[in-house]
Amino acid sequence: MLTKSLSAILMGFTIGVTFSLWLQRNSQINTTEMITSTPIILPSSSKHEQLKSNLSTNFNINYDNIAQFYEGYYKFYELNREWQKKSFLGVHFLQNPNDAITIAEILHDQDIDLVIETGTYRGGAALFFASIMYQYRYNASSKTIRPFKIVTMDINAEAKTYINRYPLLASYITFIPHGSMTEIAKSIVNRTFIEMKPKNVFISLDGDHYSKSVYDELVYFQNYLSKIGNYILVQDTRLSSKWHTMYCAEAKLGGPCNGPQEGVNWFLKNEGQGRFVSDPGKEYLFSTHHNGWLKKIAL
Ligand SMILES: C[S@@+](CC[C@H](N)C(=O)[O-])C[C@H]1O[C@@H](n2cnc3c(N)ncnc32)[C@H](O)[C@@H]1O
Repeated sequence: MLTKSLSAILMGFTIGVTFSLWLQRNSQINTTEMITSTPIILPSSSKHEQLKSNLSTNFNINYDNIAQFYEGYYKFYELNREWQKKSFLGVHFLQNPNDAITIAEILHDQDIDLVIETGTYRGGAALFFASIMYQYRYNASSKTIRPFKIVTMDINAEAKTYINRYPLLASYITFIPHGSMTEIAKSIVNRTFIEMKPKNVFISLDGDHYSKSVYDELVYFQNYLSKIGNYILVQDTRLSSKWHTMYCAEAKLGGPCNGPQEGVNWFLKNEGQGRFVSDPGKEYLFSTHHNGWLKKIAL
């Protein structure tokens, strides 16, 4: 009986010592890693571009496999309605996370002072733009803020409630509860533009995705992009995929589908020709807006 108790105590002691040694060793590793890890220093934009091109020449990349992977990724993203599952500040945010960061980069790098967005939905993207813009337009030492604005519109008025949850950000957002091609929406955009005289504008077309609507919005809103190098982003151009029945039931504006890509192509063949190009450089790793990042190259 006594021997049994003694061996149980001994075993317990051994397990305890082993566990505490293991714990000590692992916490030491973590602490050391935390202390010695080098901070990441991001290269400047031009260096970054150079770095990216150096990297792709050093690897033997099979681009067919990558294209297949992304086709599968996008199919899953659409068919599983992944695009509905993200939020920003608790508000539905219908942006692919990859593309969202590229938008944030453009806003900051181009010091954008006016964003025009068609298709607000609940306002997740508008709040995202405002959050980013607030940071780089705010000067902490003088406690001043250089003016900026987001003008966003939707046929549905529900965004108002969601945007107003954030009074600070809401004060930089003009929400228009009307369609993008209505006279009232056009006049508010125009008035804002005249009052602000923005230096750099970013336009995100995320409203009605049918080709003719996208084309009409492009023709109209391109007038507010007054600087070479600024972007109009036509969202969700990948909807013009043959398996996507909603936008590919019929072909329009040169086909093969009737979605955003057809609107972009038609615009680039007509009003946008020689003045806009699609910039694949903005499709970092993957973009739901393939060929949709339209850069102004001439006035
Ligand atoms: C993809 S959602 C926009 C998502 C939003 N930009 C975001 O990232 O959270 C498309 C929105 O476009 C709106 N819409 C449809 N036709 C429109 C039009 N003609 N003008 C403005 N908005 C429109 C729809 O009501 C819908 O809320």
